[in-house]
Amino acid sequence: MNATSIASGEATTLLSVEQLKVQFGVPRGAYPWSGKTMLRAVDGVSFNVRRGETVGLVGESGCGKSTLARAIIGLAPVASGSVRWLGNETVLPGTRRDTTLLRRDVQMIFQDPLASLDPRMTIEQIVAEPLIAHGRNLARADVQRRVLTMLERVGLNAQHLRRYPHEFSGGQCQRVGIARALISEPQLVICDEPVSALDVSIQAQIVNLLRDLQRELSLSLLFVAHDLAVVKAISHRVLVMYLGRVMEFGDKRDVYRTPLHPYTRALLSAVPVPDPTVERARRHLLLRGEIASPLNPPSGCAFRTRCPDAIDACAAQIPQPVAHGASATRVACIRVGDG
Ligand SMILES: Nc1ncnc2c1ncn2[C@@H]1O[C@H](COP(=O)(O)OP(=O)(O)O)[C@@H](O)[C@H]1O
Ligand SMILES: [Mg+2]
Repeated sequence: MNATSIASGEATTLLSVEQLKVQFGVPRGAYPWSGKTMLRAVDGVSFNVRRGETVGLVGESGCGKSTLARAIIGLAPVASGSVRWLGNETVLPGTRRDTTLLRRDVQMIFQDPLASLDPRMTIEQIVAEPLIAHGRNLARADVQRRVLTMLERVGLNAQHLRRYPHEFSGGQCQRVGIARALISEPQLVICDEPVSALDVSIQAQIVNLLRDLQRELSLSLLFVAHDLAVVKAISHRVLVMYLGRVMEFGDKRDVYRTPLHPYTRALLSAVPVPDPTVERARRHLLLRGEIASPLNPPSGCAFRTRCPDAIDACAAQIPQPVAHGASATRVACIRVGDG
């Protein structure tokens, strides 16, 4: 890739994740001699993020979204598979941290805005820290100017500079988190459920702010949420996960209009439609049972124990996400396209 291909607006792949697996050893019993068993939190996930796009990552709590996000930046132990940044391998299997390539280019925003800010630091110090940590040798006045510009960009102002995180509301803390993530001009920001801990009325403000920033700065976002409603407005493509695996990955319009995987259809049917007449007439697909345990996933398709369309063959093999027909969507389901 060269400067011309970027300038010509070709879709460049920034991040590419191939067959990524993350496992945790968890104690089998209460005693040290009970031994350990492997929990497969991320089980062979492949996807990519292109320059300037937002990928929405959705799935029920516990399906491995945070672990996947952490593995990308080198904070979770990768068992196998690869993470590439602009084509270069960043996290090697068996190692925890070799994120030199990513350190400046990828930033993260967390779910709990207050807990992710150091309570002893002022807002100015918090936002300035990544600039100083990356050792860019900026003059003090330069840092101050950039911090203020960034705070204003996220809807705060000079009066907030000397305050501490506990003086702010959840939404304001998240704005500080966003300013801190963006100050070092990253190319990709991983947002791990950035609005899940906020009041519903505040959620849309933060999602809109992130969407505006994404457009203005041509940022790429990996936006994690546990329901499809939250990522609809902001995503270009959507990745649906279940029990550590990819169920469906495709263009936002295709996934919302014609969801192919039974799990995506169930998740979507749980999203209310604003029109009450339409809403009343809709058929809600209810999922049977509980999400299975990642310690003991079902054989074959992980979703089959809750799937309304499951047949015996679903237990035989783990379905891989593949494209069907003309659509670019990849779906991991043997029933899709067989009638
Ligand atoms: N450090 C860890 N040690 C053991 N198990 C973990 C650890 N982190 C996450 N898990 C397990 O991995 C699975 C996925 O967790 P997580 O990535 O937090 O899911 P999500 O973010 O989708 O809610 C869960 O079963 C969780 O209990
Ligand atoms: Mg999580």
